[in-house]
Amino acid sequence: MAKRREQWSSNFGFLMAAAGSAVGLGNIWKFPYVAGHNGGALFLIFYIIILVVIGIPILIAEMSVGRATHLNSIDACKKINPKWAFVGVIGFLASFVIMSYYCVIGGWVLKYIATYIVTDKINNPATFFNEFCSSSIEPIVWLFIFIAITALIVMNGISNGIERISKIFLPLLFLFIIIIAINSLLLPGASKGVKFFFVPDFTDINSAGDVGKIFLSALGQVFFSLSLGMGTLITYGSYLDKNANIPKNAVSIPVLDTLIAILAGLAILPAVFAYDLEPGAGPGLIFQVLPVVFANMPFGRFIAILFFVLVFFAAITSAISLLEVVAAYFIDHKNVSRNAAALGCSAGIFIAAIFVSLSFGALGGFKVLGKNIFDLFTTLTDKILMPIGGFLMCILVGYVWGIPNMLKEISSNGLYKFRYKTAISATLKYIAPALILTIFVVSFL
Ligand code: PHE
Repeated sequence: MAKRREQWSSNFGFLMAAAGSAVGLGNIWKFPYVAGHNGGALFLIFYIIILVVIGIPILIAEMSVGRATHLNSIDACKKINPKWAFVGVIGFLASFVIMSYYCVIGGWVLKYIATYIVTDKINNPATFFNEFCSSSIEPIVWLFIFIAITALIVMNGISNGIERISKIFLPLLFLFIIIIAINSLLLPGASKGVKFFFVPDFTDINSAGDVGKIFLSALGQVFFSLSLGMGTLITYGSYLDKNANIPKNAVSIPVLDTLIAILAGLAILPAVFAYDLEPGAGPGLIFQVLPVVFANMPFGRFIAILFFVLVFFAAITSAISLLEVVAAYFIDHKNVSRNAAALGCSAGIFIAAIFVSLSFGALGGFKVLGKNIFDLFTTLTDKILMPIGGFLMCILVGYVWGIPNMLKEISSNGLYKFRYKTAISATLKYIAPALILTIFVVSFL
């Protein structure tokens, strides 16, 4: 037993890895179109409120559980109370399911990088996209490559693999997205997109139900974007040094995450409006709408490559965190070697991902509850597993483990002063669970 537990080599490394987990397809592939669908600016306001009121406290709670136990998510919950291991199990399952569709999209991104390397533009983007993602073999090959790269990084371990890659990819991503956002903002007609993103428009909102729907989407997006409610931060927190400042990190991570989501909105929406296209075009936004934009803009091919490489960086740093959650359980619990755990888990995920990929084509007719496999998996994680995981995490920390234990952990035994004791206690015990529960129940009415 007792292998020495791996650790991050520096706080900056941890921050890049945790922010790398948070910044992902959720920021670039989802945020602009969910915002587009949900009234733009109003969505943004709800998003920021939920982020501060619910997101940051849960982030702190999860990191403390990880750091206090130094265990993977399932065993960490079990150590707090043996009856509560199931909270970790929910996270473990959610990570597996998310990873199985995340890799499919990751594979599409690789395909687009490759396409722009060999051709200077995609002529008929909608047909190109539909033909590609509904075919049976090619997307599976790309998704395989994506999983293989993820596995390779995770096999190299915490400081040598995950941390090293995140320290390079995240700053580069930041640089690329700034270049693209500036380029979009300089396009004639860009201001319409900026207005859509930042100025609330109440004309579309006719009932309290509409507002509720936007609120629900914002909550789902906060959870997804911060990688909450599923053990990622327990796992990453478990490799933290006892002296690391948890609250400071818990603020830096969402700040970076939101900044990149907003930059992604600024990179995408002004360009979409400048060419009179539809912002709420669904997941097809970056794969179908943006290629039209790239085809028309100066240096379009260069920007396209930069853009898809940046999406790849975002996706891979999140994918490694998902794989790590699943693999860490086997590494700690069953005492399996890191290589075997990473490879074995990747193989399982690959098999599930094949079905997700085929649900865009050959298995498109296969529906459960009226949804194809992809829709079923995204609904299961976004609307069910992650909110339930987040709710239970609040209960576990607020009542089972207890706020005093958490406060002791976040102060690193008195090393750091934490001023928001009452606020975090009220949030974790009452506000966050009540809000999550209300929204969850309302969404099923
Ligand atoms: N936060 C990631 C994103 O925005 C997705 C993710 C969710 C990663 C949960 C890890 C855990 O894309």
